[in-house]
Amino acid sequence: MTAPGVPPVALNDGTDIPAIGFGTYGVKGDRGRETIVAALRNGYRLLDSAVGYENEEQVGEAVRRSGIPRDEIRVTSKLPGRHHRHDLAIGSVESSLRRTGLDHLDLYLIHWPNPSQDLYVEAWAALAEARSRGLVRSIGVSNFLPEHIDRLIRETGVVPAVNQIELHPYLPQTEQRTYDDAHGIVTEAWSPLGRDRRLLDDPAITAVAGRTGHTPAQVVLRWEMQIGTVPLPKSSTPSRQVENLSAAQMELSAEDMADIAALARADGRLWGQDPRVYEES
Ligand code: A2P
Repeated sequence: MTAPGVPPVALNDGTDIPAIGFGTYGVKGDRGRETIVAALRNGYRLLDSAVGYENEEQVGEAVRRSGIPRDEIRVTSKLPGRHHRHDLAIGSVESSLRRTGLDHLDLYLIHWPNPSQDLYVEAWAALAEARSRGLVRSIGVSNFLPEHIDRLIRETGVVPAVNQIELHPYLPQTEQRTYDDAHGIVTEAWSPLGRDRRLLDDPAITAVAGRTGHTPAQVVLRWEMQIGTVPLPKSSTPSRQVENLSAAQMELSAEDMADIAALARADGRLWGQDPRVYEES
């Protein structure tokens, strides 16, 4: 399996995902479904959804409408904070399957640790059970810090395949990536383009774009791939979907990489969503 022209990235459970995927936050309804069909036809083979995105139905329909064989596509969804209790978590996976109309999901992540609720270990054991029942192929986490993943491993012995976190040049997540790498966990990047124009209009980014002949979005996505993460850009515009995917086929020099790395900020979170305190319902 792989997206055309996109190399696979091996997960620690023997499966794999493409090195760049398609984000679907805010991609909803009939238009959203057509956007996702376009993304698949444009070459994306990894779709990132969540219960909270309220688009699992459209994701499933898009997979069927695309005409692409199911086993060439990786479909991700995520467990909401209100369903961390064991039975609710199993029920959430079953509901995701029902909504998507798929017989399995490829990747299911705990969306946020919600530490004040302190039920993420219970949720994790439930996802491991869902995997052993064949409902999902791979399991992972999102927005988890080392202290949270340490507990999962200590208390269940199951290492996440993926940790999906906010990551872009303002927030390079160096410590978290080092931790993920040391544990064989693939880091996925959400908001890889920064979601608004702040990042793409940054003079450091436009300078690299200008001298390499690539677009600002390609430069940012390629930087994320070259530091070893899997970006999940979202675009409702088919031409931008193609533009973004072609980041898989370019190369940035060490100088380009260093210029982009210099954008790191002490707290580069663009949305103030700190997993230590953020609570997702
Ligand atoms: P649109 O969907 O109208 O194409 P992120 O993936 O970081 O959340 O960013 C998504 C935002 O970035 C969307 O508003 C999307 O707009 C925009 N975007 C996606 N790809 C590009 C691109 N290649 N150039 C400029 N903006 C882009």
